[in-house]
Amino acid sequence: MKFAATLALAAAAATLAASASAQSFQKPEDAIKYRRSAFTLLGAHFGPLGAMANGRMPYDAQAAARHGEVIALVSHLPYTAFVPGTDKGETRARPEIWSENAKFKAAAEKMQSEVGKLAAAAKTGNLDNLKEAFRSAGPTCKACHDDFRKD
Ligand code: HEC
Repeated sequence: MKFAATLALAAAAATLAASASAQSFQKPEDAIKYRRSAFTLLGAHFGPLGAMANGRMPYDAQAAARHGEVIALVSHLPYTAFVPGTDKGETRARPEIWSENAKFKAAAEKMQSEVGKLAAAAKTGNLDNLKEAFRSAGPTCKACHDDFRKD
């Protein structure tokens, strides 16, 4: 029951994020700043979940659930900010984001799906669920960074 409710919440958050992020940017630097900020938040809330899953931080079920809620929403934010012409400047975005856009989008969707499951697992209050979901979610970040982010 609780798990299903969490999934519904994650879906609602995704819809909200999709409409909230359908904005336009005045300047290319604004889009770059926006997506980097979204990734910064994603990393800041994803990191502690990984630390708890790997035993580097004491497990705190309530904190884990909150981190899960944040990443379920924030994982949907960066991608509308990869507008054409924003591959230069203060960015590590590789040009392949635009030349191989279908692959980039697929990597984003894969991550969003795994992050949604991680958020739901975090809500269960069970460390084993968190560990298992993190093991699937973690590599989806790295996969995209390897292909689409400069070192
Ligand atoms: C579909 C591709 C993709 C996925 C999936 C992805 N990222 Fe990224 N990430 C990028 C790109 C591209 C950049 C560089 C953005 C820029 O510099 O404009 C980036 C940048 C970042 C940054 C640096 C932000 C800064 O300070 O500039 C962090 C932190 C980050 N990602 C965390 C994550 C985490 C955590 C996940 C998984 C939960 C994740 N990313 C999943 C593509 C991705």
